[in-house]
Amino acid sequence: MKRLFGKSLVVVLAAMLAAALAKPALADPIIIKFSHVVSPDAPKGKAALLFKQLAEKYTDGKVTVEVYPNSSLYKDKEELEALQLGSVQLLAPSISKFGPLGVKEFDVFDLPFLMTDDSHARQMMASPMMADLNKKLEDKGVEPLAYWDNGAHVYTANVPLNMPDDFRGLKMRIQGSKVLDAVARQLGAIPQIIAFGELYQSLQTGVADGEDNVPSNIWTQKLYDVQKYLTVSHHGRLTYSLITNKKFWDALPADVRPGLDRAVQESTAFFDDTAAKDNVTAMDQIKASGKIQVHVLTDTEKQAWIAALMPVHKEMQSRFGKDFIERIYKASGFVPPQS
Ligand code: SIN
Repeated sequence: MKRLFGKSLVVVLAAMLAAALAKPALADPIIIKFSHVVSPDAPKGKAALLFKQLAEKYTDGKVTVEVYPNSSLYKDKEELEALQLGSVQLLAPSISKFGPLGVKEFDVFDLPFLMTDDSHARQMMASPMMADLNKKLEDKGVEPLAYWDNGAHVYTANVPLNMPDDFRGLKMRIQGSKVLDAVARQLGAIPQIIAFGELYQSLQTGVADGEDNVPSNIWTQKLYDVQKYLTVSHHGRLTYSLITNKKFWDALPADVRPGLDRAVQESTAFFDDTAAKDNVTAMDQIKASGKIQVHVLTDTEKQAWIAALMPVHKEMQSRFGKDFIERIYKASGFVPPQS
């Protein structure tokens, strides 16, 4: 009897010990590392912090989001590799950087003057044809959760850029897309692929003479400190895709996914609201700094730029196919000028 009692006590104690050991493992939150390359006070930086707050709230603490801004975890190219390997779970890179994933189609959005304003850009990214492109990313193990349009590009340089000829011989930093490479070459410039995290230093040391970006990045990265001229050209756009590792996302527990989906939706709405406002404020701040001379292209200058860059559209037909480019024109509302 005594032995029996002793035995069951051992069993009970063992069960209690197992339960105690199992409990912390069950309660461990799922960690989502969100890496990005901009400053925490740029629109993407703010949206990433909001995503963290919402994701943790809507999953009742089952998820912890760690946000790594300013390329502190990975730079442009490494972050894509890290996502595919599962070392990081969320990114929001510019879609002009998707080439190394083996998906060349996203470069098409860099065709010069393709999207004239915010509403055309959003119309494009919400169009049904994005389903085909999203599938191409999924085939590479990358799930696009949302598109965040960060506005129109302006150029900065250490010489005035008013007419296409002004680019001749300049080393222009580009993000990496083949279309951006063709644009720089068409203007007679020398394209240099430089990671965003190295941009300030490259401009400061003369590794590059100029670059194009959105005002909120030029302001938050202090690029106006190392460039003398800014041209409001609106020749292209900066669009991000909020992407995750598909395997990771698909394997998330059923009680976690709805909260994360809601956090994605709400941070996307926040980003859409913030980006345009921040670009206007940043442009005012850049002008007020007095450090950089701002020029808005006149109609005549803009027509000269469009005429100089339309050959890139033609050249890219062999890369993307004429049909695909025409579908893109239709979805974006772009009407090629009569030649
Ligand atoms: C970004 O906004 O994520 C970086 C854009 C760039 O590389 O110019």
